[in-house]
Amino acid sequence: MSNDPLLQPYQLKHLTLRNRIIVTAHEPAYPEDGMPKARYRAYTVERAKGGVALTMTAGSAAISRDSPPVFNNLLAYKDEIVPWIREMTDAVHEQGAAIMIQLTHLGRRTRWDKGDWLPVVAPSHLREASHRAFPKKIEDWDIERIIKDFADAAERMKAGGMDGVELEAYGHLLDQFASPLTNELDGPYGGSLDNRMRFCFDVLRAIRTRVGDDFILGVRYTADECLPGGTGKAEGLEISKRLKESGLIDYLNVIRGHIDTDAGLTDVIPIQGMANSPHLDFAGEIRAATDFPTFHAAKIPDVATARHAIASGKIDMVGMTRAHMTDPHLVRKIVEKREDDIRPCVGANYCLDRIYQGGAAYCIHNAATGRELTMPHSIAKADCRRKVVIVGTGPAGLEAARVAGERGHEVVVFEAASDPGGQVRLTAQSPRRREMISIIDWRMGQCEKLGVTFHFNTWAEAETIRAERPDVVIIATGGLPHTEVLSKGNELVVSAWDVISGDVKPGTNVLIFDDAGDHAGLQAAEFLASAGARVEIMTPDRSFAPEVMAMNLVPYMRSLQKLDVTFTVTYRLEAVERSGNQLVAHVGSDYGGIARQQTFDQVVVNHGTIPLDDLYFELKPFSSNRGEIDHDRLIAGEPQSVVRNPDGQFQLFRIGDAVAARNTHAAIYDALRLLKDV
Ligand SMILES: Cc1cc2nc3c(=O)[nH]c(=O)nc-3n(C[C@H](O)[C@H](O)[C@H](O)COP(=O)(O)O)c2cc1C
Ligand code: SF4
Repeated sequence: MSNDPLLQPYQLKHLTLRNRIIVTAHEPAYPEDGMPKARYRAYTVERAKGGVALTMTAGSAAISRDSPPVFNNLLAYKDEIVPWIREMTDAVHEQGAAIMIQLTHLGRRTRWDKGDWLPVVAPSHLREASHRAFPKKIEDWDIERIIKDFADAAERMKAGGMDGVELEAYGHLLDQFASPLTNELDGPYGGSLDNRMRFCFDVLRAIRTRVGDDFILGVRYTADECLPGGTGKAEGLEISKRLKESGLIDYLNVIRGHIDTDAGLTDVIPIQGMANSPHLDFAGEIRAATDFPTFHAAKIPDVATARHAIASGKIDMVGMTRAHMTDPHLVRKIVEKREDDIRPCVGANYCLDRIYQGGAAYCIHNAATGRELTMPHSIAKADCRRKVVIVGTGPAGLEAARVAGERGHEVVVFEAASDPGGQVRLTAQSPRRREMISIIDWRMGQCEKLGVTFHFNTWAEAETIRAERPDVVIIATGGLPHTEVLSKGNELVVSAWDVISGDVKPGTNVLIFDDAGDHAGLQAAEFLASAGARVEIMTPDRSFAPEVMAMNLVPYMRSLQKLDVTFTVTYRLEAVERSGNQLVAHVGSDYGGIARQQTFDQVVVNHGTIPLDDLYFELKPFSSNRGEIDHDRLIAGEPQSVVRNPDGQFQLFRIGDAVAARNTHAAIYDALRLLKDV
């Protein structure tokens, strides 16, 4: 047996967990009609197959109708959920993993215009900044009803074969009662700590009475809100001790911080550029003070830190949640001593931000996550070996090379630059986004093991490609910044990429016209303002940087506000003219009736990229499919079979930004879904 601390079993009451790594509660927003159907099950089972000890399904499964799903949560208040839960728990148990579910009442952390349009309830009328609902102050009959709803939901989960349930008590109703900041009740449920904790203990007692002792019950709670006037560390410690001493629960799952604002949430679940394992020592202090089984997760993305968390005895079970979204087979690779092969979580938080903005969690660089029904996490070998020639080593080209290599093909890659990475390499120039380079480095490492041949500093012409006598050609040449959007003066502006790459010197008084609204505009602003420039970001949109989602925006704002960067929404840069050594910006508005002039010494335009596609069009006549992709077959996961030119020498496909400006995930998904069938 291995002596790796991470691989030691853990006895949690009657439940034996096969190692020390868990996936903590997270709602990937995959439910269909509020139920964990085939897609949800496939996602969950993949992680169980990969070796994790315990998977905490759902995040915040709703126990009451007035806790409506705000990010497509599971509806634990419906009886019809039981058979769906049973199918999932049976499938996970078959793989040797334990499975629990997190239950909650969201309190004010939801919206009244979701679900059944019931008023939102909380122990005060105070609004939560993130979800914006003004709550109804909870009444006695609401409290009785919700306690019963918790017990009913727990009973459903037990009937569905769950090993236990966890209650969510950070930012949700349970701790809205516990925190002095959000509880304005008098009498039995408000005022003293005893009173503020009464609701939590009433709920725990009601659940325990209903499910009995042989069912795991835990609480994930904030033991320090890190807010003036809130539950501080001393009170958090007292709460921890009372939870243990109640005898009602089997473990503590420690959180530090508050989640009522995007900034607070980002400190609880840090993203790239923020410190790793920031709350591990704190969780260790709770464990030491209570001597009680303690779980914890918060940006512990790598095996070495996870191992330290367990070996040091700070915690009993370590959460590696996003790490499992990036690589569901993480534990298996530790067992097989293949830690180098683990696809690293780069903290991009595309996953979490998307559950609000896009509706389903996807990993920025694992396009199979959440698509287990159609996309493989392990690539099958092809029946016959073909020669695949790829042009470009951005995320699309490298994913294509990796997948073609896994298929067992002979793979040759051409790249004009001296290093791989394309736009991702540029992105990683920002110290805060340096972790992005692992998207490239991991693929280069995998390609090396697979024997892929690379030709850097090589501008591939059509003849270069044809001389390789390929069976398949993949054009992943990406795009070039597109700045020609003005009626006059396009030659006077520079692109956001020119700034980020250091190709142009920062001005002193700079306008960034950003109608792409993605990271590049804000990154350029950060570069310029840090170099001392006065920066105004202007967009014709209703809000700035709409493609940079909530948690990703937090570090930018923390830096840009301090640097006094200003934001102007609903105005459009129409033209630029030179006036001496200054540039005059002519500004209008899509709403009409505005024409004003502002003076700058540098104007930056961020308007995405325009495809670099000459090579594709040169090769098209020589290909058998003339570049065509059969979308039906692509979506169905079947090999491409278009023949438009029977004399063609190879199949030709164009992917990523070489087709149209999109993002890293889209580029990687293009490559995976095409190459897995080549
Ligand atoms: C898509 C997504 C949804 C999440 N939803 C919940 C949730 O509903 N409840 C919860 O307690 N934590 C939720 N989390 C937080 C995770 O449980 C975990 O604490 C967080 O991701 C930090 O751990 P990690 O760095 O290992 O990913 C969510 C995380 C993700 C990525
Ligand atoms: S999107 Fe980023 S943070 Fe989320 S799992 Fe993938 S790599 Fe990790």
